[in-house]
Amino acid sequence: MSNVPFYKPHSNEIELFEHAYSNQLPLLIKGPTGCGKTRFVAHMAAKLNRPLYTVACHDDLTAADLVGRHLIGDGRTYWSDGPLSRAVREGGICYLDEVVEARKDTTVVLHPLSDDRRILPIERTGEILQAPPEFMLVVSYNPGYQNFLKGMKPSTRQRFVSLRFDFPESALEQEILIGETGADAMLAKRLVNLANALRALKEHDLEEAASTRLLVYAATLIGSGFDPVDACRAAMVETLTDDVETADALMEIVHASFGR
Ligand SMILES: Nc1ncnc2c1ncn2[C@@H]1O[C@H](COP(=O)(O)OP(=O)(O)OP(=O)(O)O)[C@@H](O)[C@H]1O
Ligand SMILES: [Mg+2]
Repeated sequence: MSNVPFYKPHSNEIELFEHAYSNQLPLLIKGPTGCGKTRFVAHMAAKLNRPLYTVACHDDLTAADLVGRHLIGDGRTYWSDGPLSRAVREGGICYLDEVVEARKDTTVVLHPLSDDRRILPIERTGEILQAPPEFMLVVSYNPGYQNFLKGMKPSTRQRFVSLRFDFPESALEQEILIGETGADAMLAKRLVNLANALRALKEHDLEEAASTRLLVYAATLIGSGFDPVDACRAAMVETLTDDVETADALMEIVHASFGR
């Protein structure tokens, strides 16, 4: 299992994923940026030994981008499957990242596939693909305020089993840092304490809190010999805010944790 990406579970999400998979239920994962959603899906796909097709959704994404289209080559037209059709044919896992970004008419192609019919009609070719038991649909999004108005149609949402991710509690986040970057326990502890102090700063309205991803970046820079305070500035503070005053306030917390 050495090719299974490292993943430390928060709770019983691995078990939930396995149950959803074996019962052919689609899964929705929501949580802030950098909390492990993508890593979790990659881990589970490798663990279950299924090919993974990931689509980063955006507001220009059309149904054809998912399902496929006719292409022209060698003087003839031929059909080219999109990632969703390929995953259905191969019995793979199709992972739609930031699914709320996709247009509502795009997400509608997911409907017959994500309820008990488990079919993908390909209008252009007249084919109707029946998903094999190994096929699984997973979607994720970040319910931060920027998506507040977008959301997902209830008729789409209610086809999924849902899982909420949040930043891991301190001991777990330390283990993630150690496992991911080889940081020593002392450094992991300091970085997690720093992140918690930054996360507690409610009065500076940062768009998003410091994520586990940023802690991984900071630990990586420090691990390769870069100065810890400068690493925290580069990997965390300047990534979190453009506002100079806010950055200064955040740097005070960094100095308190890593003071030189
Ligand atoms: N539970 C975990 N186990 C192992 N690594 C983790 C875990 N959680 C977070 N990480 C680390 O944090 C990084 C970011 O996680 P990931 O890319 O999965 O975030 P995400 O939730 O998909 O974020 P986004 O919404 O921005 O796509 C990973 O590359 C990994 O280094
Ligand atoms: Mg992701």
